[in-house]
Amino acid sequence: MVTSRGILSPVGMRVLELGCGPGANIPFFLSQGADYYAAEGSETIVVELQKKFPDKNCHVACADFTKDFVWEGPFDLIVDRGALTHNNTADLQKVVEMIRGSFASNGRFMGMDWFSTRHDALARDRSNTVDAHTRVFREGYFDGLGNYIFQMWII
Ligand SMILES: C[S@@+](CC[C@H](N)C(=O)[O-])C[C@H]1O[C@@H](n2cnc3c(N)ncnc32)[C@H](O)[C@@H]1O
Repeated sequence: MVTSRGILSPVGMRVLELGCGPGANIPFFLSQGADYYAAEGSETIVVELQKKFPDKNCHVACADFTKDFVWEGPFDLIVDRGALTHNNTADLQKVVEMIRGSFASNGRFMGMDWFSTRHDALARDRSNTVDAHTRVFREGYFDGLGNYIFQMWII
C-alpha cells in the first residue's frame, strides 16, 4: 500500500477503521492480509458485519469512537472515511489526540471526507449551528444526515 510517506507492508498490518459503516472498505484490507479492527456506532450494522466477515483477522465492535476505540493499539494505520465529520468539533479534537496516542512506530492516519469551509452547501443550504465548525442541515443533500463538521485548520 503506497502512502504519501512511503510504502506500508499490508500483510499483518494492524488497521483501525473509525466508523466502518456497512463495511465498504473491509474487503480491501482483508484482501491485503491486514489485521482489521473497527469501531462502529450502529449495533445493527455491527451484527451484520460480524456475520458477513467471520474471518479471524476481522474484528468489528459496536462503540462510540469519541469515547473509546475499544480495540487496543498500537495500530499501523488508522482510517476515517466520512465518519469523524459526523461528530462535533470538541469530539473531533479529542479523537485526533486519541489517534496520536494509538500509533505504532511509523503509524499513519488516513482521513477522507473532511469538509472545507468553502464547501458550497455551507453558503447555499439552511442549517442549524451546533458549534463554531459544525452544522445540522435543514435542506439540500446533507439534510437528515446529522452533524457535519467544516474546517480548515482546527487540529
Ligand atoms: C458515512 S458512513 C461511512 C462508512 C465507511 N467509513 C465508508 O467509508 O463507507 C459514517 C459511519 O460512521 C459511523 N459513526 C459516526 N460517528 C461515530 C462515532 N462517534 N462512533 C462510532 N461510529 C460513528 C456511523 O454510524 C456511520 O456508519
